Amino acid sequence: MARYFILSLIRLFNFVSFKISLALKAGYQISIPFATYAPWLKDEAFLNTFDRVRGISLVNLYQCWELWKLVDETEKTPGDVIEVGVFKGATSAIMATKLKQNNSPAKFICCDTFEGVVKASGADNFYKGGEHKDTSLNFVTNLLTQTFQLNNVVILKGIFPDETGHQVQENKFRLCHIDVDTYQSGKEVLTWVWDRLSPGGIVVFNDFGYPRTRGITQLVEENRGRKDCLVIHNLNGHGMMIKLK
Ligand SMILES: C[S@@+](CC[C@H](N)C(=O)[O-])C[C@H]1O[C@@H](n2cnc3c(N)ncnc32)[C@H](O)[C@@H]1O
Repeated sequence: MARYFILSLIRLFNFVSFKISLALKAGYQISIPFATYAPWLKDEAFLNTFDRVRGISLVNLYQCWELWKLVDETEKTPGDVIEVGVFKGATSAIMATKLKQNNSPAKFICCDTFEGVVKASGADNFYKGGEHKDTSLNFVTNLLTQTFQLNNVVILKGIFPDETGHQVQENKFRLCHIDVDTYQSGKEVLTWVWDRLSPGGIVVFNDFGYPRTRGITQLVEENRGRKDCLVIHNLNGHGMMIKLK
């Protein structure tokens, strides 16, 4: 009875939200999924790791869970893991902890200006540049190497790839998390990493599903129809590109 009542409320909410969003021609809609499978609730190592970074994370539980599992999924693919857009290190800690748990030989490369968002342009509707600068190289180094005791991380400070890409230009990658907020930044990271991505490798865009980062939505949509990749939209907010060959 209670289940039926809750499902009816969700159905009503989704219907009203759908109609309003349609009328507003928003292209964005708040919706509550009916699917309730929640494996993160049974993964204590994940919950413990997420709990330790919750206070500094700009990324939600469901996206963090997907990053955690994508580290597992790409374990069979050769290459390192790279993240551009580290901020205070939350998603870096999550992915590098998973690599460590898997005894993976892969390195985790963390790239950030540590001076805020860059390369805002007309394609971006909210970001102007300089946001998220309340962090530092010291803070993230301390979090990853001292608090989390991770020795599989390489931290690169500067605009990626312009200023720091050369330091890892010979590396191959299996997984790339792009969380940079702006179109041009995302495009340059994608172009740089795609040639170095192993077949079966995955690029994950954190900002794909959000109304404040429409430049990233545009960037991922521009890549649909390519013959060398699958493009996937996840309702948790991620846009993903899986390299075929
Ligand atoms: C939304 S924050 C990242 C959030 C983070 N993943 C977390 O776990 O909370 C975006 C970050 O991207 C960084 N950034 C944007 N473009 C960049 C670029 N081209 N190179 C390096 N860092 C960049 C900014 O400095 C900022 O710290």
